[in-house]
Amino acid sequence: MNALQVLESSPVLPVIVIHDMDVAVELAHALVRGGVSCLEITLRSEAALEAIAHISREVPEALVGAGTLRNARQLEAALRAGARFGVSPGLTPELAAAARNADVPFLPGVATASESMIAADAGFTVQKLFPAQAVGGVALLKALYGPMPDIAFCPTGGINATNAGQYMALPNVKCVGGSWLTPDDAVARRQWDEITALARQACALRTAS
Ligand code: 3PG
Repeated sequence: MNALQVLESSPVLPVIVIHDMDVAVELAHALVRGGVSCLEITLRSEAALEAIAHISREVPEALVGAGTLRNARQLEAALRAGARFGVSPGLTPELAAAARNADVPFLPGVATASESMIAADAGFTVQKLFPAQAVGGVALLKALYGPMPDIAFCPTGGINATNAGQYMALPNVKCVGGSWLTPDDAVARRQWDEITALARQACALRTAS
């Protein structure tokens, strides 16, 4: 599987922070039930690596990746835990080399045309536009499509049910990322039906766009 296939496997890439290991598997099931099977577990919590391992084992229909990878050490730890793809808010030469060596689908974060070109030169033509809304959003993606139509993006940062459809309609957007499918409050209260409904609603946006 390559990075493009990862993005094409789901209209939305939920950006997930797991604080409580006990909810990890149920949360993954709730998203999968709603049609969202590609999951980005961010390395922003103590529980993240264990959650990746657990969900990979217990929810085989999910495609589990690791997010917020800021260095090679984190990428390696995530792969050892069972992550099948990686996402970063940016890109460093060290991280680029580690992702190439690991030969795993990897989305570097970019925010400008130059960063996108540097990432493409490093071998990554599927990229995360981050933080999407703050750096220009839909207008920036439309502008980038002119000179670099071959780059595919997963915009993330400030995307929600209201604006996701506008992003999904763009030819250079394969998937949108965001944390809106897993509100902290709903996760803490184990409102799995609410999360399944949010996932379904997000999938319907792609069909509509
Ligand atoms: C990320 O790491 O991709 C962002 O924090 C997600 O941004 P959001 O919370 O605005 O969706």
